[in-house]
Amino acid sequence: ESVCIGVDVGGTNLRFALVDQGGAVLSRVSEPTETVTAPAPFVARLQGRVQQLQREALARGVRVAGVGIGVAGLVSGEGAVLSSVNLPALQGVNLGAELSRALGVPVLVLNDANACAVGEQRFGAGKGYRSWLMLTIGTGVGAGLILDGRLWTGANGLAGELGHLTVEPEGRPCGCGNRGCLEQYTFATAISAGNDSAAAVARRAVSGDAAAVARFEGAGRYLGIAVAGVLNLLNLEAVVLGGGVSESFELLAPAMRREICSRTLALPGAAACVVKGALGPDAGVLGAAQAAFDAEKISSRSH
Ligand code: BGC
Ligand code: NA
Ligand code: ZN
Repeated sequence: ESVCIGVDVGGTNLRFALVDQGGAVLSRVSEPTETVTAPAPFVARLQGRVQQLQREALARGVRVAGVGIGVAGLVSGEGAVLSSVNLPALQGVNLGAELSRALGVPVLVLNDANACAVGEQRFGAGKGYRSWLMLTIGTGVGAGLILDGRLWTGANGLAGELGHLTVEPEGRPCGCGNRGCLEQYTFATAISAGNDSAAAVARRAVSGDAAAVARFEGAGRYLGIAVAGVLNLLNLEAVVLGGGVSESFELLAPAMRREICSRTLALPGAAACVVKGALGPDAGVLGAAQAAFDAEKISSRSH
């Protein structure tokens, strides 16, 4: 029996899981990302955690067939991090090459939101849809597009960067170099403005604090406007929300649905559904592990 290790390298948390072919998590480790200043110690940290799970697999008598890593940024087909707005120190680091050399197993690197899309497609809320959008809302806003049952990665693997869709032409500067990106109106500066954590604002909103409710509504509104554009372009069946902020799904969804309803050209009664992801914080590790399984199958078939 073989297993894979899924890793989710996010702006806020690092998650590692030993996953079997059926999507069961056999073991997991997670810790805060903390500020990454230099790539080498960070790569060593990832390596150490993966090796910990490799030892666990050995103890269980299962073979680790591969490692899949979802990273919050643009990833090249060769496994290099081309750029990362929320983890700038990883820019130019070829995580795939460095880690596969160190770990002795194939390492597949993909975008974090794409990993979530694969996870929810196989094991979660995306199971019943053929064409849908995964939207992850956390430190950054990410997206993964599943079109006709397949992850759409685009001409250069960079498809789905919905967090950097312009929603305010002269708006707030974004880490990507542009202004007015969706990502600037959803989490950091919208929901968790100032020293507030998103969780604290959510607690206040749930207990009826109007200002806190308004922050989620404002974010939901921008998300809905952006998603409506995607839906008009692609005529998708559903939008699945993931990422840390999706724990506050009920606070975000009404404003999103309202904007989607008024801005999309849907058939009567057939507007795309906005649903919460089913895998919670595991979507990324499950999808990354699944992508590693798939890559292994493809390479063993061609040998
Ligand atoms: C990055 C995406 C990433 C998203 C979520 C964005 O800022 O550009 O690549 O998927 O954050 O982490
Ligand atoms: Na993506
Ligand atoms: Zn941007």
